[in-house]
Amino acid sequence: MEFSSLGQNLSGGSGIESLMDDLGKALSGVGPAPLMLGGGNPAHIPEMEAVWKERMEKIVGDPSILRRTLAIYDPPRGNAAVLESLAALLRREFSWPVGPENIAVTPGGQTAFYFLFNLFGGRRGDGSLGRILFPLMPEYIGYANQSLEPGMFAGVQPGISRTGSHRFKYHVDFKNLHPGSDIAALCVSRPTNPSGNLISDAELGHLADIAAQRNIPLIIDNAYGWPFPGLVFGEAKPLWTAQTVHVMSLSKFGLPGTRTAFVVASPEVAAAVSSMMAVTGLANGNFGQAIVGPLIASGEIVRLSRDIIRPFYLKKRDAALEAIAEFFPADAPYALHESEGALFLWLWLDGAKKTSREIYETLKNRGVLVVPGDYFFFGLPDEDWRHRQECLRISFAMSDADVRAGLKIIGEEVASAF
Ligand SMILES: Cc1ncc(COP(=O)(O)O)c(C=O)c1O
Repeated sequence: MEFSSLGQNLSGGSGIESLMDDLGKALSGVGPAPLMLGGGNPAHIPEMEAVWKERMEKIVGDPSILRRTLAIYDPPRGNAAVLESLAALLRREFSWPVGPENIAVTPGGQTAFYFLFNLFGGRRGDGSLGRILFPLMPEYIGYANQSLEPGMFAGVQPGISRTGSHRFKYHVDFKNLHPGSDIAALCVSRPTNPSGNLISDAELGHLADIAAQRNIPLIIDNAYGWPFPGLVFGEAKPLWTAQTVHVMSLSKFGLPGTRTAFVVASPEVAAAVSSMMAVTGLANGNFGQAIVGPLIASGEIVRLSRDIIRPFYLKKRDAALEAIAEFFPADAPYALHESEGALFLWLWLDGAKKTSREIYETLKNRGVLVVPGDYFFFGLPDEDWRHRQECLRISFAMSDADVRAGLKIIGEEVASAF
């Protein structure tokens, strides 16, 4: 049987697939139990697990809610009451002028990006190729294989500044950011997976100006941002303009198994996403919306993000940084990206003798899973940029004991990499 070019692109293996495979096997007990510092699974937070239990009991205990959740197709756009509650929350929290017509539910953020990239990027009426531009690489590995046309993604190398001993930070390099007529949309994750970078308000404002001048969308991936889950350690004002398209997911709020996300955009874009949902999946799963619906309506989702989830991860982040200070060789030229959000540390081994892939393999053999950084540099013109082979992404979401044990072994490999 012959697969189409598109079929080969989607089924031929990808960074995100091997990452999810490593993650799934490690967390489901298939094979030896490694120290899992690789995937993006959120932590299991006892206070949040108590919330899920209470919500599930309410759903199961009320026959009419149970029937609504299990036995009824929602409209493709999502549950009307949940859309209304989320719009009200965004008006209250951020003063965004939005209603339910601005929102569409998707089966997770991953599917939302697949829809959005191919809604804006791809072959146009005049035969030209519309491309999606990532203004600051490295970016989320999961975007990399989502285009229906080859060559649809373009990335811009970041500016890098040294911010302290063993610390650095990426910046959008506006000098080299000149989107041509081929660029159909800009996209950033904020906070950024993998680096933990937080694109500043000024940088985001500048990107919004470019999007407005060109009248193209500025897609903002809020997987770790406000109003939920709030894994934001620095200052970041949420931005709304006529061009912004926000994607908000329940996954890092603690519910990746429900596969639920919300696209918040102009009515035209929200309607397009809802139509794409109908064609590809009929309707969304109801469970995520059933669990969080009342939490959105009461605003509890914001309180839980601010008072439980954010402090939980901040403490884990600090514990990981302490372990690195203890275990990594102080005289080695390693550098960590400033940790401004998300649940990863991004390690740069500047001038290392080994590539990140080689270090990843060694670590895997020693029972520690991380993600080699080169996966996150797709769409860049400069294949020779050495930095691409010098970074590793390390999650700090697992138990403190596992994170410490993993970082001790990584520290030994850092020493031998130079
Ligand atoms: C930056 C970013 N965007 C989107 C996603 C997709 O998440 P989900 O499909 O679970 O909402 C992830 C998952 O790790 C992510 O890190």
